[in-house]
Amino acid sequence: MNAVKPMVLVTGGAGYIGSHTLIALAEANYDFIVYDNLCNSSKESLNRVEKIIGKSIKFQEGDIRDADCLERLFTTYNIDSVIHFAGLKAVGESVEKPIEYFDNNVNGTLVLLSVMKKYNCKQIVFSSSATVYGDPATTPIKEDFPLSATNPYGRSKLFIEEILRDVFVSDNEFKIVLLRYFNPVGSHSSGTIGEDPNGIPNNLMPFIAQTAVGKRECLSVFGGDYDTKDGTGVRDYIHVVDLALGHVKALDYFTSETSISPDETRVPFPKTNPLTVNLGTGNGYSVLDMLKAFERASEKKVAYKIVPRRAGDIAKCFADPSYAKKMLDWEAKKSIDEMCEDSWRWQENNPDGYQNPT
Ligand code: NAD
Ligand code: WQD
Repeated sequence: MNAVKPMVLVTGGAGYIGSHTLIALAEANYDFIVYDNLCNSSKESLNRVEKIIGKSIKFQEGDIRDADCLERLFTTYNIDSVIHFAGLKAVGESVEKPIEYFDNNVNGTLVLLSVMKKYNCKQIVFSSSATVYGDPATTPIKEDFPLSATNPYGRSKLFIEEILRDVFVSDNEFKIVLLRYFNPVGSHSSGTIGEDPNGIPNNLMPFIAQTAVGKRECLSVFGGDYDTKDGTGVRDYIHVVDLALGHVKALDYFTSETSISPDETRVPFPKTNPLTVNLGTGNGYSVLDMLKAFERASEKKVAYKIVPRRAGDIAKCFADPSYAKKMLDWEAKKSIDEMCEDSWRWQENNPDGYQNPT
């Protein structure tokens, strides 16, 4: 059996991606503590992760903007690295509440970084997003493409990336990985944890799932006239379990001096910038591809209608994931069918998400 590794602080660990990452961490024998203010999640997700991993989870309820509460954690535990998921993520809401978004996401990250520095914890994996590429001129998207943002949520990610680049330059002891997620979907194969959006889902997959289970009547497909194979938007959907494994690879990276790709010549880590990688599959699927795949997985008909484009949407967004393979020896393995089957298992077993647990 492997020796237990040092403690990882997981901010936002009760949320959708965080809860799946806890399982990957436990399987890789990382010890961790979850810090979350539960503003967009429920403690029930952690209860369910405990059942999956077969052990109890250390959890502290708190806000990343609360320096005193964070400091108490750093004095109690020997925290050696941080995976920083905590943040608000609804694009539309960010347009209505930019101050709240910048305060929560940007200010929260600054408080976290100050406390980390004070306690000499200098390893952080940050949840960035493909949204920082704005509307890319071409696809697939590589990490050195120009960056831009079209809404306050996206700008908060861009600002945090910039802050982390400056922190990296200012202190050569800092090790930083920026993970740019494409479109996370799916659930753990147990069907006991998953994405649990508040109210009407903004994202495609939960909307399709809720339509299949009978909670919504009809999917509105935003735009049928894009320059794509069937006129609907194309995205790089990635199974959340694959995504979770990317975080373990990022932590492993902290303990090695070169890339962990086993095959070719080992590549030294970048010296001038944080390691920045896309986490996507490299495949672009349209809205209608996803709908058909979900119908196959659920054996349900999903009613849809084509409606005008959604403001701010782009035609195509999918990753070139080769740098993640080279630097982290990570690649997505799960198919679109597994994404839909797992998402359906969660939705069918938990039509009300974490409410009314059975
Ligand atoms: P989520 O809302 O399910 O999880 C975020 C967690 O952070 C929640 O549990 C919430 O309660 C917590 N949180 C928010 N603000 C906090 C604060 N101030 N203090 C403490 N906890 C706080 O979202 P998710 O889908 O799991 O996303 C995780 C991260 O990944 C976010 O930073 C998000 O922006 C980023 N991301 C998500 C997607 C996506 O499509 N889901 C894509 C790219 C990037
Ligand atoms: C996917 C496709 C829609 C809903 C968003 C954020 C991004 C990132 C991931 C955090 C698009 C279409 C959707 C619906 C539809 N989050 N669609 N009907 O827009 O690629 O990315 O989530 O970082 O920042 O912007 O994801 O799931 O909303 O949309 O037709 O009811 O599905 O037009 O083509 P998106 P999405």
